[in-house]
Amino acid sequence: MTSEGLADGPETYTVTVVDSYDLLSALAADAVSETLANRPGAALTLPTGDTPLGMYRELVRRIDAGELDFSQAQFFCLDDYLGSTPDDEASLTRWLKQVFLDPARLPEANVHYVPTAAADPQAAAAGYDREIAACGGLELAVVGLGPNGHIGFNEPGSGPDDPTRVVDLQPATRAQSAAYWDGKADIPAQAMTIGLGTILQAKRIVLIVSGAGKAEIVQKSLEGPETTEVPGSFLRRAGSRLEVILDQGAASKLSPRQ
Ligand code: PGA
Repeated sequence: MTSEGLADGPETYTVTVVDSYDLLSALAADAVSETLANRPGAALTLPTGDTPLGMYRELVRRIDAGELDFSQAQFFCLDDYLGSTPDDEASLTRWLKQVFLDPARLPEANVHYVPTAAADPQAAAAGYDREIAACGGLELAVVGLGPNGHIGFNEPGSGPDDPTRVVDLQPATRAQSAAYWDGKADIPAQAMTIGLGTILQAKRIVLIVSGAGKAEIVQKSLEGPETTEVPGSFLRRAGSRLEVILDQGAASKLSPRQ
Protein backbone atom coordinates (compact mmCIF):
# COMPACT_ATOMS: atom_id res chain seq x y z
CA MET A 1 0.00 0.00 0.00
CA THR A 2 1.37 3.40 -0.91
CA SER A 3 -0.19 6.66 0.21
CA GLU A 4 0.86 10.25 0.11
CA GLY A 5 1.95 12.11 3.18
CA LEU A 6 -0.53 14.75 4.16
CA ALA A 7 1.46 17.36 5.99
CA ASP A 8 3.62 19.01 3.39
CA GLY A 9 1.43 20.75 0.87
CA PRO A 10 1.61 19.94 -2.81
CA GLU A 11 5.04 18.33 -2.64
CA THR A 12 4.30 15.28 -0.55
CA TYR A 13 6.33 12.31 0.46
CA THR A 14 5.09 8.74 0.04
CA VAL A 15 4.57 6.10 2.71
CA THR A 16 4.62 2.47 1.64
CA VAL A 17 3.57 -0.12 4.19
CA VAL A 18 4.67 -3.66 3.41
CA ASP A 19 3.78 -7.03 4.88
CA SER A 20 7.25 -8.41 5.34
CA TYR A 21 10.79 -7.44 6.16
CA ASP A 22 11.91 -9.10 2.94
CA LEU A 23 9.69 -6.78 0.93
CA LEU A 24 10.95 -3.74 2.83
CA SER A 25 14.50 -4.86 2.06
CA ALA A 26 13.72 -5.49 -1.60
CA LEU A 27 12.13 -2.04 -2.03
CA ALA A 28 15.15 -0.37 -0.45
CA ALA A 29 17.41 -2.37 -2.76
CA ASP A 30 15.23 -1.30 -5.70
CA ALA A 31 15.93 2.35 -4.87
CA VAL A 32 19.66 1.61 -5.05
CA SER A 33 19.29 -0.34 -8.32
CA GLU A 34 17.20 2.41 -9.92
CA THR A 35 19.65 5.10 -8.86
CA LEU A 36 22.63 3.27 -10.33
CA ALA A 37 20.75 2.27 -13.49
CA ASN A 38 20.08 5.97 -14.11
CA ARG A 39 23.54 7.13 -13.08
CA PRO A 40 26.17 4.40 -12.61
CA GLY A 41 28.61 6.80 -10.95
CA ALA A 42 26.08 8.25 -8.50
CA ALA A 43 27.09 9.23 -4.99
CA LEU A 44 25.04 7.49 -2.35
CA THR A 45 24.96 6.80 1.34
CA LEU A 46 23.42 3.73 2.97
CA PRO A 47 22.96 3.13 6.70
CA THR A 48 24.27 0.66 9.23
CA GLY A 49 22.17 -1.09 11.86
CA ASP A 50 19.82 -4.04 12.05
CA THR A 51 17.21 -2.61 9.69
CA PRO A 52 19.31 -2.51 6.49
CA LEU A 53 20.78 -6.03 6.85
CA GLY A 54 18.17 -7.48 4.48
CA MET A 55 18.77 -4.70 1.95
CA TYR A 56 22.51 -5.43 1.96
CA ARG A 57 21.89 -9.18 1.50
CA GLU A 58 19.66 -8.40 -1.47
CA LEU A 59 22.18 -5.94 -2.95
CA VAL A 60 24.99 -8.51 -2.71
CA ARG A 61 22.70 -11.11 -4.31
CA ARG A 62 21.93 -8.74 -7.19
CA ILE A 63 25.60 -7.89 -7.67
CA ASP A 64 26.57 -11.60 -7.66
CA ALA A 65 23.77 -12.36 -10.14
CA GLY A 66 24.98 -9.60 -12.47
CA GLU A 67 21.72 -7.71 -12.00
CA LEU A 68 23.36 -4.69 -10.40
CA ASP A 69 26.59 -2.94 -11.33
CA PHE A 70 27.97 -1.19 -8.28
CA SER A 71 31.46 -0.77 -9.67
CA GLN A 72 31.23 2.96 -10.42
CA ALA A 73 29.09 4.07 -7.48
CA GLN A 74 30.64 6.55 -5.07
CA PHE A 75 29.79 5.11 -1.66
CA PHE A 76 29.81 7.54 1.27
CA CYS A 77 29.72 5.93 4.71
CA LEU A 78 27.01 7.58 6.79
CA ASP A 79 28.49 7.66 10.27
CA ASP A 80 31.01 6.15 12.64
CA TYR A 81 32.44 6.62 16.12
CA LEU A 82 34.95 9.40 16.65
CA GLY A 83 38.52 8.17 16.64
CA SER A 84 37.56 4.70 15.48
CA THR A 85 39.32 2.84 12.69
CA PRO A 86 38.23 -0.38 10.97
CA ASP A 87 40.69 -2.19 13.27
CA ASP A 88 38.54 -1.35 16.29
CA GLU A 89 35.84 -3.76 17.33
CA ALA A 90 33.27 -0.98 17.53
CA SER A 91 33.62 0.42 14.05
CA LEU A 92 30.65 0.93 11.78
CA THR A 93 33.04 1.04 8.85
CA ARG A 94 34.30 -2.40 9.82
CA TRP A 95 30.68 -3.57 10.13
CA LEU A 96 29.95 -2.15 6.69
CA LYS A 97 32.99 -3.81 5.18
CA GLN A 98 31.91 -7.20 6.50
CA VAL A 99 28.26 -6.84 5.59
CA PHE A 100 28.56 -5.09 2.24
CA LEU A 101 31.71 -3.41 0.98
CA ASP A 102 33.82 -6.58 0.84
CA PRO A 103 31.15 -9.01 -0.45
CA ALA A 104 30.11 -6.38 -3.02
CA ARG A 105 33.78 -6.03 -4.11
CA LEU A 106 33.55 -2.26 -4.26
CA PRO A 107 36.71 -0.65 -5.63
CA GLU A 108 38.49 0.92 -2.67
CA ALA A 109 38.83 4.19 -4.60
CA ASN A 110 35.03 4.50 -4.72
CA VAL A 111 34.49 4.17 -0.97
CA HIS A 112 34.57 7.34 1.11
CA TYR A 113 35.18 6.69 4.78
CA VAL A 114 33.94 9.04 7.47
CA PRO A 115 37.19 10.76 8.57
CA THR A 116 36.78 9.80 12.23
CA ALA A 117 40.49 9.51 12.93
CA ALA A 118 41.51 12.86 11.40
CA ALA A 119 43.75 15.15 13.46
CA ASP A 120 41.19 17.93 13.07
CA PRO A 121 37.85 16.11 12.94
CA GLN A 122 35.63 19.18 12.47
CA ALA A 123 37.69 20.38 9.51
CA ALA A 124 37.73 16.87 8.09
CA ALA A 125 33.95 16.62 8.48
CA ALA A 126 33.55 19.82 6.45
CA GLY A 127 35.91 18.29 3.90
CA TYR A 128 33.67 15.22 3.71
CA ASP A 129 30.72 17.44 2.75
CA ARG A 130 32.92 19.00 0.07
CA GLU A 131 33.78 15.52 -1.23
CA ILE A 132 30.06 14.75 -1.49
CA ALA A 133 29.48 18.03 -3.32
CA ALA A 134 32.38 17.30 -5.69
CA CYS A 135 30.60 14.06 -6.65
CA GLY A 136 27.51 16.07 -7.57
CA GLY A 137 25.78 15.67 -4.20
CA LEU A 138 24.01 12.58 -2.93
CA GLU A 139 21.81 11.01 -5.56
CA LEU A 140 20.37 8.68 -2.92
CA ALA A 141 20.37 8.53 0.86
CA VAL A 142 18.85 5.45 2.46
CA VAL A 143 18.48 6.06 6.19
CA GLY A 144 17.06 4.33 9.23
CA LEU A 145 15.39 5.88 12.26
CA GLY A 146 16.79 5.54 15.75
CA PRO A 147 14.52 4.86 18.72
CA ASN A 148 15.23 8.46 19.82
CA GLY A 149 14.45 9.85 16.35
CA HIS A 150 18.03 10.13 15.16
CA ILE A 151 18.94 9.96 11.48
CA GLY A 152 22.44 8.64 11.01
CA PHE A 153 23.97 9.94 14.24
CA ASN A 154 22.06 13.21 14.02
CA GLU A 155 20.92 12.89 17.61
CA PRO A 156 18.12 14.92 19.26
CA GLY A 157 19.25 18.54 19.16
CA SER A 158 20.16 18.25 15.48
CA GLY A 159 18.57 20.58 12.98
CA PRO A 160 17.73 20.52 9.28
CA ASP A 161 20.70 22.65 8.23
CA ASP A 162 23.33 20.74 10.15
CA PRO A 163 26.39 19.79 8.11
CA THR A 164 28.54 16.71 8.53
CA ARG A 165 30.16 17.09 11.94
CA VAL A 166 31.20 15.63 15.27
CA VAL A 167 28.30 14.88 17.62
CA ASP A 168 27.81 13.67 21.20
CA LEU A 169 26.01 10.35 21.44
CA GLN A 170 23.14 9.89 23.87
CA PRO A 171 23.51 7.05 26.41
CA ALA A 172 20.58 5.22 24.76
CA THR A 173 22.30 5.37 21.39
CA ARG A 174 25.54 4.02 22.86
CA ALA A 175 23.60 1.14 24.41
CA GLN A 176 21.81 0.49 21.09
CA SER A 177 25.18 0.53 19.32
CA ALA A 178 26.80 -1.83 21.84
CA ALA A 179 24.05 -4.36 21.11
CA TYR A 180 25.41 -4.73 17.54
CA TRP A 181 28.42 -6.39 19.16
CA ASP A 182 26.44 -8.37 21.76
CA GLY A 183 26.90 -5.58 24.28
CA LYS A 184 30.61 -6.25 24.52
CA ALA A 185 32.08 -3.37 22.53
CA ASP A 186 33.09 -0.14 24.18
CA ILE A 187 31.24 2.61 22.32
CA PRO A 188 32.91 6.05 22.19
CA ALA A 189 30.99 9.04 23.54
CA GLN A 190 31.21 10.92 20.25
CA ALA A 191 30.70 10.14 16.60
CA MET A 192 30.89 11.77 13.18
CA THR A 193 27.82 11.75 11.00
CA ILE A 194 26.76 13.04 7.63
CA GLY A 195 24.65 16.02 8.63
CA LEU A 196 20.91 16.12 8.41
CA GLY A 197 21.29 19.14 6.14
CA THR A 198 23.49 17.17 3.76
CA ILE A 199 21.02 14.26 3.80
CA LEU A 200 18.10 16.61 3.16
CA GLN A 201 19.81 17.82 -0.01
CA ALA A 202 19.87 14.29 -1.49
CA LYS A 203 17.89 13.90 -4.70
CA ARG A 204 16.14 10.85 -3.26
CA ILE A 205 15.76 9.92 0.40
CA VAL A 206 14.46 6.51 1.46
CA LEU A 207 13.60 5.98 5.12
CA ILE A 208 13.29 2.34 6.18
CA VAL A 209 11.84 1.38 9.55
CA SER A 210 10.86 -2.04 10.84
CA GLY A 211 9.09 -3.25 13.95
CA ALA A 212 6.41 -2.12 16.41
CA GLY A 213 9.11 -0.91 18.78
CA LYS A 214 9.64 2.04 16.44
CA ALA A 215 5.92 2.77 15.89
CA GLU A 216 5.85 5.70 18.28
CA ILE A 217 8.94 7.43 16.93
CA VAL A 218 7.68 6.87 13.37
CA GLN A 219 4.41 8.53 14.36
CA LYS A 220 6.24 11.46 15.96
CA SER A 221 8.54 11.82 12.95
CA LEU A 222 5.77 11.83 10.38
CA GLU A 223 2.83 13.34 12.25
CA GLY A 224 4.32 15.31 15.13
CA PRO A 225 5.64 18.86 15.03
CA GLU A 226 8.99 19.54 13.40
CA THR A 227 11.39 19.64 16.32
CA THR A 228 15.05 19.19 17.02
CA GLU A 229 13.94 16.73 19.72
CA VAL A 230 12.99 14.36 16.90
CA PRO A 231 15.45 14.89 14.04
CA GLY A 232 13.41 12.48 11.88
CA SER A 233 10.61 15.05 11.88
CA PHE A 234 12.66 17.20 9.48
CA LEU A 235 12.73 14.55 6.76
CA ARG A 236 9.29 15.68 5.61
CA ARG A 237 10.93 18.86 4.36
CA ALA A 238 12.22 16.82 1.44
CA GLY A 239 8.63 16.59 0.15
CA SER A 240 8.34 14.30 -2.85
CA ARG A 241 12.06 13.42 -2.66
CA LEU A 242 11.24 11.38 0.47
CA GLU A 243 9.94 7.82 0.37
CA VAL A 244 9.09 6.12 3.66
CA ILE A 245 9.02 2.32 3.68
CA LEU A 246 7.56 0.71 6.81
CA ASP A 247 6.44 -2.71 7.86
CA GLN A 248 3.06 -3.11 9.55
CA GLY A 249 4.57 -2.88 13.03
CA ALA A 250 6.43 0.37 12.37
CA ALA A 251 3.30 1.87 10.75
CA SER A 252 0.93 0.75 13.50
CA LYS A 253 0.60 4.12 15.25
CA LEU A 254 0.12 6.25 12.15
CA SER A 255 -3.25 7.86 11.55
CA PRO A 256 -5.27 6.34 8.71
CA ARG A 257 -4.46 8.06 5.41
CA GLN A 258 -6.88 8.95 2.66
P1 PGA B 1 18.53 -0.10 13.70
O1 PGA B 1 19.08 1.34 13.89
O2 PGA B 1 18.38 -0.34 12.24
O3 PGA B 1 19.55 -1.00 14.31
O4 PGA B 1 17.20 -0.16 14.42
C1 PGA B 1 18.54 2.39 13.18
C2 PGA B 1 19.15 3.68 13.62
O5 PGA B 1 19.44 3.83 14.82
O6 PGA B 1 19.33 4.56 12.77
